[in-house]
Amino acid sequence: MRDRGARAAGGGPGAGGDGDRPGRGGHRPGREKAAQRGLEVRFLVGNVLDLADLGEQFDTALDSGLFHVLEDDDRSVFVAGLRGVVRPGGRYFLLCFSDRQPGVFGPRRITQDEIRAAFADGWRVDSIKPVMMDSAVQRGAVHAWLAAITRT
Ligand SMILES: C[S@@+](CC[C@H](N)C(=O)[O-])C[C@H]1O[C@@H](n2cnc3c(N)ncnc32)[C@H](O)[C@@H]1O
Repeated sequence: MRDRGARAAGGGPGAGGDGDRPGRGGHRPGREKAAQRGLEVRFLVGNVLDLADLGEQFDTALDSGLFHVLEDDDRSVFVAGLRGVVRPGGRYFLLCFSDRQPGVFGPRRITQDEIRAAFADGWRVDSIKPVMMDSAVQRGAVHAWLAAITRT
C-alpha cells in the first residue's frame, strides 16, 4: 500500500476472511474495505514464511492476528524474513491474542516475554500495550497486545 510516500505491508486477510490458510481468496474483505476507503492497495497472496521472496522492503509492516497462529519453529523463520522486508528504522506493529485472555478456545495466547524474546535480536521493542481486539472466532472483544517494534 502506498500512503503519503511511505510503504506499508499488512499480513492476513481481513476479519471474516474466506479461508484460514494463505491462497484461498481471503483478500475479498480487504479489497472491499480498500474500495470503500478509496485506497490504492496491491494485494499479494503468499506464505509469510517466505517473505524474502518478495524482494522488496517496506517502511511499516502491520500484523493483525497472524503472529499468534504461528508454531514456535515458524515464529523464528517469520521474524527473520520480516527483518529482511522491513527497512532499517522501519516499524512492525503487532496485534495478537494475549495471555490475559481467559480460556483456551481460539488462537494460542502470547505473553509479553514471548514477544520480547522473538524480537530480541535486530529489533527494539518500543512498547507493548494491553488492548481489546475484535475477534472473528470469539464473540465480542478479546484481550490482546498491541506491540510497536522497530527494526534496528
Ligand atoms: C487469526 S487470522 C487473522 C485474520 C485477520 N488478519 C484479522 O485480523 O482478523 C490469521 C490469518 O493468518 C493467515 N496465515 C496463517 N499462516 C499463514 C502463513 N504461513 N502465511 C500467510 N498467512 C498465514 C491465515 O490465512 C489467517 O487469515
